Amino acid sequence: MSESIYVQNLTKRFENVEAVNGISFSVQQGELFGFLGPNGAGKTTTINMLTGLARPDSGAIRIGGLDCKVNPKAAQHLVGVVPDESNLYPELTGYDNLCFCAALYGIGKTERQTRARELLDIFDLAKAADRKFAGYSKGMKRKLTIAAGIIHRPSILFLDEPTTGIDVASARQLRQMIANLHQEGTTIFLTTHYIEEAERLCDRIAFIVSGRIVQIDTVAQLVQPIREKHVMRIACVNIPSGIHNKLAEAFPVLTFTVSNGGFIKVESGDPVQVGPLVRFLEDNGAEVSEARRVRPSLEDIFVSITGIEAGAMCKEKEKKGGGR
Ligand SMILES: Nc1ncnc2c1ncn2[C@@H]1O[C@H](COP(=O)(O)OP(=O)(O)O)[C@@H](O)[C@H]1O
Ligand SMILES: [Mg+2]
Repeated sequence: MSESIYVQNLTKRFENVEAVNGISFSVQQGELFGFLGPNGAGKTTTINMLTGLARPDSGAIRIGGLDCKVNPKAAQHLVGVVPDESNLYPELTGYDNLCFCAALYGIGKTERQTRARELLDIFDLAKAADRKFAGYSKGMKRKLTIAAGIIHRPSILFLDEPTTGIDVASARQLRQMIANLHQEGTTIFLTTHYIEEAERLCDRIAFIVSGRIVQIDTVAQLVQPIREKHVMRIACVNIPSGIHNKLAEAFPVLTFTVSNGGFIKVESGDPVQVGPLVRFLEDNGAEVSEARRVRPSLEDIFVSITGIEAGAMCKEKEKKGGGR
């Protein structure tokens, strides 16, 4: 398999912010590679540099084997880019937007009309083909933006937070479409702050925090160390103070994490016995509302490696009204 994207020691600084700080990775042909990180981590800046929209301060980029400093135009021709915010024309219809994008890529008139119709069908937008883009819902806008990004059948596709800020049904539909493109052999570089999305879709994931890659591996390898672990989540109406120390003393083989939200996480190398734990908690003044086993997931790995609470990623995004 050949290398579609190669990045070595890439750096970009904005005034006093190291937006991207010496990252290196490569993506193989046909791979779906995820860039997972919180708001402000440097995901968009990375995509902008890889697609020729921003100039790196230092580092090397090869796209489809082409050095982007030497052959920027040829490299750009291999890629499709779907920005986090739409770059389409509000006053044009969905159909005209697609035809216009196709024309920019030099696709002939008959072919671009056929291709536009085909994509409108695939993205379930045929009925809205003759409506102005401005009147589309957020989900429809995102779908048309992706359709425009693949109009010239690029072999490498960059998707910047494709499911952020759209309704659940559209997001699900989009994930399926991304999986289909992956199956058809397109190399995909996808940024997201949704851990589950990365886990479900990607072959390999890089965790990016404050401009640096802190971990990079296949999903299977990332979750391997915790697959054998037994994890239980106990929800309590109230958590008495000092309970952590009492639990640790009474159950020395278990590891406890007490969170502010009223949850106690219990981890162990062996199956956890629920009964004695719940009884102990209640004897010590806690009111247990639920205790259940949880399947360890990429989320646990992400939290343990980055120190970022999973919930904080989405909350931060919502606060900023969908992010940049
Ligand atoms: N054009 C810019 N000017 C100044 N600072 C920027 C610019 N673009 C991004 N940044 C800063 O660089 C950092 C990374 O931003 P960005 O790449 O947009 O992160 P992400 O896409 O992961 O949310 C942030 O601290 C952001 O504020
Ligand atoms: Mg971004």
